[in-house]
This record gives sequence, structure tokens and C-alpha cells, in this order.
Amino acid sequence: MEKPILKVEDLYYVYGNGKAALDGVSVDIYEGEKIAVIGSNGSGKSTFFLNINGVFTPEQGKIIYRDIVVNKKNLKELRKNIGIVFQDADNQIIASTVRAEVGFGPMNLKLPKEEVQERVEEALAYMNISDFKDRPPHYLSGGEKKRVTIADIIAMKPEIVIFDEPTAALDPLNAMMLEEVLDKLGSEGKTMLISTHDVDFVYRWAERAIVFCQGKIIADGTPLEIFKNRKVLKQANLKQPAMLEMYELLVEKHLLEDTKAYPKSTQEFKKMLGEQVSFLGALA
Ligand SMILES: Nc1ncnc2c1ncn2[C@@H]1O[C@H](COP(=O)(O)OP(=O)(O)O)[C@@H](O)[C@H]1O
Ligand SMILES: [Mg+2]
Repeated sequence: MEKPILKVEDLYYVYGNGKAALDGVSVDIYEGEKIAVIGSNGSGKSTFFLNINGVFTPEQGKIIYRDIVVNKKNLKELRKNIGIVFQDADNQIIASTVRAEVGFGPMNLKLPKEEVQERVEEALAYMNISDFKDRPPHYLSGGEKKRVTIADIIAMKPEIVIFDEPTAALDPLNAMMLEEVLDKLGSEGKTMLISTHDVDFVYRWAERAIVFCQGKIIADGTPLEIFKNRKVLKQANLKQPAMLEMYELLVEKHLLEDTKAYPKSTQEFKKMLGEQVSFLGALA
């Protein structure tokens, strides 16, 4: 079997209050995976991200990036290769213009000036914010700031991109634009980890879902496996995605044959209903 990009073994992290925010977390992440990290507030998602990105150093446990066993001296390997888009853009933005902001990471990598410039232009174009480059990021709207912070990470060209609750502060239009960016990154084969409370998004987007509860991973599987597992849903206070709930309800009431071809979008649902239910044929 292929080797994981990132191997996390028995990670512990404790904040000042003495309570373990990560309480023995082990997980392997493979190239190109689209992973959703779910679980209630305070379950340890952000702390996990900050540990695997090298912002924090774990109390105990091991992180192996490619063949590098991470320690205090080579932490920069994690910071360089695992980028994180913070939940709150204001905590990430530091420079006084968008251009300087997006160039900050590549400059810290000590890349030649031309390459920094090239990466900045590329990242701005990718996020469709080239017009903003001379503006102070702090005065942009929430959605624009989010795009700047994603450009920050794209300019670093990391192997893994982490998004910590990316849609939390976005209006529906910006959330949709963000999902388009995620799809674009996904189609390019980027390895991604996204924490979110949006179970419908997890169901349609992720290939794998990891569930945190009180600093531990309590489940790891396909979104379908996770969202069909009542015990896990209860323990982690998760709702079922609407599509799945509806499918299971119709099957339970014998209104739909359980083909196991679970629809993930309204489009797919309509098609299935149209094919199976004669008087709904017009939907197909
Ligand atoms: N800066 C901090 N100082 C002290 N405790 C913290 C800090 N950040 C998070 N915690 C605690 O660590 C636990 C995990 O939090 P966090 O990783 O932020 O969870 P999540 O991202 O899943 O909401 C919670 O109990 C939270 O209160
Ligand atoms: Mg968090």
C-alpha cells in the first residue's frame, strides 16, 4: 500500500488549564484525500490542525511527514508543507496590502524575488482577487478576506491544505464561491482537510470523515459510514445530512427501493425518484 503523507501517532496536547485538548490521536493521511473533520465545538479539531501544521508542538506523540520524524528543529517542514487557512481571517492577516500579505509566506521561504512575485500573481489570479492587490486587507469584506487568506496558502504551494471552519462567517454566495475553490483544488488532486459543522457539505464533498469527540477520534470512515452510524452521531452530536435522512425515510416507508445508490445532490435525488416512482417520472 502507498505510504501516507502524514502519519500521526498517539498525539497529546494540553493547554494551560491542564486538560488534554488532544487525548491520544492517531491518524494517517494519504495523498489526494478529501477529508472532513467533524465534531462539536471544543472537541479538538483546531488544536489537531495547529499540531499537524507545526504551530504547536505536541506534549507527547509522533508526527511523521513523508519520511521526516518531526521534532523542534525541523518543524519548518510541517509549516512549509502543510498550510492552514484559519477560521478567523483577522487572525491570519498581518500585512498592510493584499500583495504583501500573499507574498509574506513565500518570502519567508527565502525564495528569489521573482518567484515570490510570480507566486503572488498566480495565487491572486487563482482566487480572483488581482484587482485588490494594493488594498489594505483589513478593510475588505468577510468574503474577500477569506479569499486573501486562501491566496496566502496557495502561494506557499503546500502539499496539504487545511481549512478550519471555512464557511463559518460567510454569507451563502461566498460559501458557494468557497465550495467552487474547494472543488477546483480537489480536481487538481490537492490533499485537503476541512473542519465544518455543515454535514450536508461533508456528505456531498468529502471522501473520508474523521469524527472528533473530547480530544479523541471516535470514528473514521466514508461520510456514508459515519452518517449511518447512529451511535457515533449521538456521541458527537451530529445531525444526518438532509439527503440521507430523506433517502432512509422513503426506504423505510417502502416508497423507494433501497438501491444503495445514495443520492448526494437534489439533482441525483430527483433522478432517482423520477426513475423509481412512476407518477414522478417528470422529475427524472
Ligand atoms: N488557547 C486555548 N487555551 C486554553 N484552552 C483552549 C485553547 N484553545 C482551545 N482550548 C480548549 O481545548 C479544547 C479543544 O478546543 P479546539 O481545538 O478549539 O476545538 P474545536 O476546534 O473542535 O472547536 C477545548 O476544551 C477548548 O476549550
Ligand atoms: Mg475550532
